[in-house]
Amino acid sequence: MTIRIDDSLMYRDRLDGLHGLDPALRDTMEERFQVIRADIAGRRKSGEYGFESLGRQDAVVASIEQWAALQRGRFDHLLILGIGGSALGAKAMLTALKGSAWNEWDAGRRDNWPTLTVLENVDPVTVLGTLDRLDPRRTLVNVISKSGGTAETLAQYLIVREWLDRSVATDAKDHLVITTDPERGALRALAGSEGITTFAVPPEVGGRFSVLTAVGLVPAAILGIDIAELLAGAAEAVDAALADQLADNAAARWAMLQWQAHATRAANVHVLMPYSDRLRDFAEWYRQLWAESLGKRLDRDGTEVFRGPTPVGAVGATDQHSQVQLFIEGPFDKTITFIRICDTVDMLTIPGRDGLGPDMSYLVGKTLGGLLDVQFVATREALRSQGRMSSTIEIDTLDARTLGHLFMFFQLATGYAGAWYGVNPFDQPGVELGKVLTFEAMGKDGF
Ligand code: PA5
Repeated sequence: MTIRIDDSLMYRDRLDGLHGLDPALRDTMEERFQVIRADIAGRRKSGEYGFESLGRQDAVVASIEQWAALQRGRFDHLLILGIGGSALGAKAMLTALKGSAWNEWDAGRRDNWPTLTVLENVDPVTVLGTLDRLDPRRTLVNVISKSGGTAETLAQYLIVREWLDRSVATDAKDHLVITTDPERGALRALAGSEGITTFAVPPEVGGRFSVLTAVGLVPAAILGIDIAELLAGAAEAVDAALADQLADNAAARWAMLQWQAHATRAANVHVLMPYSDRLRDFAEWYRQLWAESLGKRLDRDGTEVFRGPTPVGAVGATDQHSQVQLFIEGPFDKTITFIRICDTVDMLTIPGRDGLGPDMSYLVGKTLGGLLDVQFVATREALRSQGRMSSTIEIDTLDARTLGHLFMFFQLATGYAGAWYGVNPFDQPGVELGKVLTFEAMGKDGF
């Protein structure tokens, strides 16, 4: 299995005997799970769970790979314009699979794949700074908007388009690729009228569930990431999440435990804490997925419930010197999910030098990866001893396949969590309201 999950530390009998979930849940939730499964099976038929088919997209992979191969060496930079679900996945992939120093490497070390910059805000200082830094003649711009109508992204496009036109004039369309709805929206119309290359976002997949569509696959392919492997990992996660027993279905079980912790132990804060810098942006991606999917005013019956957990991202060991004090001694309102990567444990031996006293010599000959792992084990044990619930997702190595599996695992868990919480995880009326009010304030007709 690509990922392994240990959720034993969610239960009272493994904590301090006072806090945590009732161990009897291990049995009693099986029955309830069958109701959840039946509910989801019905919704699947009506197309709500469209993201589950993203593990198998051979034709899409072939067309993206073919196109990406033609771009290789033509550009030094990939600039993404997008926001929310149209931005966070690409950032998470770059950091996870290329490392946070990628943009500082020269082209040779990057094997001629471009740098990546994601403009995910309309802060003019950031936009000006980015355009000042990049050479438009060597930049490919990927405009990403599922709806094709998001004000932030369209405003960025107009500014960036003028920047391109000034330097590359009639060639501007060769510096653009648009990812949007197959038929609707302003970007689709624009691409059609100007003959700009486009990739389609399947209408049945929501924005925050779209990292494994062209939204994430186009940037991934341009950066030299093996997108077939990403999807193979995702397909594994889907297969595992079809298991009809809760005990065998890790995604449904993890979601159930978060919901139970919230419903019965008032743990409304759900922390994702990878012990890896490479998963820092992944935690940010999870935050949007969990928050926007589960934070809802209405339940499935239309009753006002104001429901939803608050997701938090943290990174070990860095946050041991920041948020972890709160996690260990603050209110009993949290669950922590750790992600541990096994193959870095032996990396980077700590060298000795003459004259070291016992305060430093204990480090010599150990590895930095080993220190990181010891920090994880110690923090988990400190939490456990204080009655704090946690789960651990363990992976052997962080590569395209495991990352694809992780993306899909959390999407599946979110789909299940919607059912456990009794809310629609696929809509976002609050976000839409903000969009409408922005249009109104900006004087857009038709709202
Ligand atoms: O999950 C969602 O639907 C949102 O976060 C969207 O991704 C975000 O609002 C951007 O929308 P769009 O891709 O249509 O520009």
